[in-house]
Amino acid sequence: MQALSIPLLLLLLHLSLFYTNSVQVQALTSPTDISALKAFKSSIKPSSIPSWSCLGSWNFTTDPCAIPRRTYFICGLTCTSDSTRVTQIVLDPASYSGTLTPLISQLSYLTFLDLSDNSFFGPIPSSISYLSKLQTLSLRSNSFSGSVPASISNLKSLESLDLSHNSLTGFLPNSINSLSNLRRLDLSYNKLTGSLPNKLPPNLLELALKRNSLSGSLSKSSFAGLTQLEVVELSENSLTGTLQPWFFLLPSLQQVDLANNSFTRVDVWKPSGGNSNLVAVDLGFNRIEGYLPVNFVSYPLLASLTLRYNRLRGTIPLEYSKNKFLRRLFLDGNFFIGKPPAGFFATDTSVSGSLGYNCLQGCPASSQLCVPSQKPNAICKQAYGHS
Ligand SMILES: *[C@@H]1O[C@H](CO)[C@@H](O)[C@H](O)[C@H]1NC(C)=O
Ligand SMILES: *[C@@H]1O[C@H](CO)[C@@H](O)[C@H](O)[C@H]1NC(C)=O
Repeated sequence: MQALSIPLLLLLLHLSLFYTNSVQVQALTSPTDISALKAFKSSIKPSSIPSWSCLGSWNFTTDPCAIPRRTYFICGLTCTSDSTRVTQIVLDPASYSGTLTPLISQLSYLTFLDLSDNSFFGPIPSSISYLSKLQTLSLRSNSFSGSVPASISNLKSLESLDLSHNSLTGFLPNSINSLSNLRRLDLSYNKLTGSLPNKLPPNLLELALKRNSLSGSLSKSSFAGLTQLEVVELSENSLTGTLQPWFFLLPSLQQVDLANNSFTRVDVWKPSGGNSNLVAVDLGFNRIEGYLPVNFVSYPLLASLTLRYNRLRGTIPLEYSKNKFLRRLFLDGNFFIGKPPAGFFATDTSVSGSLGYNCLQGCPASSQLCVPSQKPNAICKQAYGHS
């Protein structure tokens, strides 16, 4: 040690100080991202942040994006590979309770924001529209209230929007159709009112608006150009009017659930060229009148059809018992008359479901299809009046 001269010691000391300093001041996470993360955490009630949770590990005495993250910032966020910008916030379901800070908008590199299954409340800040790189936004299963901010239509990169299971009110903004990258829209289990937007986002695969208070009819303009739409879930609303042929002819349509609405008619055309991907249709618990459309049978892949508890009348077309693809058929709770097609009761039948609680004659009690039993005569006579 004696060999070390004083100047050399000083130099070493200087170097080590320089090294320490440089680690401390080295630019990692951008200061705006850090302040946004701080604001994000501080708008959540500390008492709702368990020490073992992701947010519990967010301790700002260390740099959020610095790796390795052994003690702090263990989970809940992802950064760019150069550790300068936050790209994802995916919280664990830890019952975090609080609001979503408007300062979230400063995390301008965010592509993924998932706060699902927590207890966030208050409005969705309209400043969220500044997150121009955002691809996935899931606020599912929280207690957000207020309306869906119209500014959300500025999120041009958005591919998946899940705001289901909250307490959102008001109309769906018409501007939503400008979300041209949106593939999946789920706003089910909210309190939305009004009718569907004039135009839905053009590249949707999945539209889910179950259990809201939507009214009005399904207009052709809303669905115009939605050539990729596969799944439509609009059950438990107050939708009315006629289901028109264009609807079932949407070229990619596979699954339709419009149960528990107030539709009054259904009009079905054969698919052009016999081509359709339609697999399942549920129109149960509506107010559909008229005859059972025979053209459903022309949809080659249709395996499940439910028209239970409507006001359909007349006979059940023979064609229904000849379609071997149709495995589930629920026609119970209507006013069908006559003898059900014998094919339903053949030994090689593969169809399950129900023809019960109609006005059918000779539905063999030995068949599961005939459960529950038919309506009392008096009700059937009344339904068919004097005709
Ligand atoms: C954050 O880390 C510092 C330094 O390790 C520690 O003293 C402090 O208690 C931590 N704060 C929390 C809230 O854990
Ligand atoms: C639809 O309404 C019926 C009758 O009110 C109810 O029994 C059924 O559970 C409802 N279906 C759904 C999916 O809510």
